[in-house]
Amino acid sequence: MTKNFLDLETCGPDALMEIMALSHAPVEPVLKGTSVAMVFEKPSARTRSSTEMAVVDLGGHPLMISDAEVGIDRRESAEDVARTLGSYHRIIAARVNDHDVLLRMQAALSSPLWNVSVVNLLSDFSHPCQAIADLLTLSDEFSPSGDLTALKGRTVAYFGDANNVTRSLAQAALMLGINIKIASPEGYQLSRETVSSLTEMAHISGATIFQSDDVHEVASGADALYSDVWTSMGQESERAQRSKDLAGYGIDEDLVAEAQSDAIVMHCLPAHRGEEITDAVLESSQSRVWVQAAHRRTAMRGVFRWIMEGDAHS
Ligand code: CP
Ligand code: NVA
Repeated sequence: MTKNFLDLETCGPDALMEIMALSHAPVEPVLKGTSVAMVFEKPSARTRSSTEMAVVDLGGHPLMISDAEVGIDRRESAEDVARTLGSYHRIIAARVNDHDVLLRMQAALSSPLWNVSVVNLLSDFSHPCQAIADLLTLSDEFSPSGDLTALKGRTVAYFGDANNVTRSLAQAALMLGINIKIASPEGYQLSRETVSSLTEMAHISGATIFQSDDVHEVASGADALYSDVWTSMGQESERAQRSKDLAGYGIDEDLVAEAQSDAIVMHCLPAHRGEEITDAVLESSQSRVWVQAAHRRTAMRGVFRWIMEGDAHS
């Protein structure tokens, strides 16, 4: 059956563990003779480069396609874009404004006549490829032997706007038994519905999820402090209000001092120094942001290999 990678919740913990293992496995040309279409409705530095290079690593051909070229739901429907690209490419990896576009692309290709996978390179809902890179970074730090069970009981603390990155980070962490704590002001927290589905994941792995508007409560005892921009792509008109509402939720040296003494600092990037994270923290010896960025490529290899394993077993 054709595998898709739209959201970690739908893939589940077994797939997550497999992707993690495949990320580090010796590189094999599993994409030889195939190609990956990369469609971007929004800008990207890390995702575009890491995806393209991972395809090259695995012997495939990456094709970058900007939204200006395909015009999803403007020039033609998301379904027709998916079937057109699916006529040439084994995988469509897309960064979209609306998560529903990914679901519609997946549905358009769901007949067994197609063997085309859809990969989420960030939507308004989730950023699962980033979460794999985040786990690889945590694993390097707290489980260098690669034994993921060693991550159980660690705590990741997230500060700021609880958004697409937060949701995927929380899903990934909780599936591996890592506790997640989130500090956001009212109006910027994960919805009750999201917390409820994350709580179910936490129960299965024995981890905990905690959400509060108190940054100190969240920083206390954390093994990793994580932040993302306060104004995500597409929310630019809200920047002034968001900066006002989220003031006090940035990571600074005082907050880092409230966590474990060997805590690491993470950020998916791009960073806005002086807003959600200070320059000093980003440049400190506790910062792992460049390890995270590098692991985007490792993670994409894992995702593509997991998808292509489906072909080998069919
Ligand atoms: N972290 C991340 O997805 O970065 P880009 O937006 O640059 O791809
Ligand atoms: N939350 C951010 C993540 C950027 C990688 C956004 O959606 O713009």
